[in-house]
Amino acid sequence: MELVIADDAAAAGRLAGGIMADHIRGGAHAIGLATGSSPLGAYRELIRQHRERDLSFQRVQAFLLDEYIGLPPGHPQSYARFIRDEFTAHVDIADDAVHSPDGNAADIPSAAASYERMIATRGPIAVQILGIGGNGHLGFNEPGSSLRSRTRVKTLTPKTRADNARFFDGDLARVPTHVLTQGLGTIGDAGHLLMIATGAAKAEAVAAAVEGPVSAFCPASILQMHPHVTVIVDPPAAAYLK
Ligand code: F6R
Repeated sequence: MELVIADDAAAAGRLAGGIMADHIRGGAHAIGLATGSSPLGAYRELIRQHRERDLSFQRVQAFLLDEYIGLPPGHPQSYARFIRDEFTAHVDIADDAVHSPDGNAADIPSAAASYERMIATRGPIAVQILGIGGNGHLGFNEPGSSLRSRTRVKTLTPKTRADNARFFDGDLARVPTHVLTQGLGTIGDAGHLLMIATGAAKAEAVAAAVEGPVSAFCPASILQMHPHVTVIVDPPAAAYLK
């Protein structure tokens, strides 16, 4: 595992975006995207390189990690919409090359299975960008998730719903209770895992993921079992590393 302590959150985002850009220039045909606030700096860097340095996404398929179940299609906080607004609408990737689990499917388990199949068919994902939950979750694999899990339904913990209420005008009641998420096994199939964590609220989870025991109680600790991992943090998120 490569651990980089960047000068600040902005530098962490630029570095992560640069690593993703290198994969794309090197011919990656599938990339994995995360939502939430952590990867936004990386997406800004990719948009900048698209505008200023001819970085093209025309040959790239993109796969989201997860999606809320039951938000109406087009809801501003659905992850499909979030990624379009924050990233993919600003580069030359076709809308139909950006894939996410279908959180509105009539048959959710079969939507999970078909997402797995799509990744298996159109992958492998060359580089997967990741954030980390304050409780160590990866994707929406909450503590206790099987280390070899595949895409499936998960129930969000009260902490994760409270953490994400900021995206729903602070109204906890509006935060969905269930999600579809790639499993830890699915995430581990990507060639390069690139995790970004910034801010003091992530310090404990980062230390557990990077230096703690590999355990389902800290799902992000599966990073330790992967052959190619880069963790990029800012100084506050690195505070508890030994
Ligand atoms: C989002 C995701 C989550 C977030 C994590 C951190 O697609 O899978 O694991 O990466 O909850 O969220 P932020 O970055 O908002 O702190």
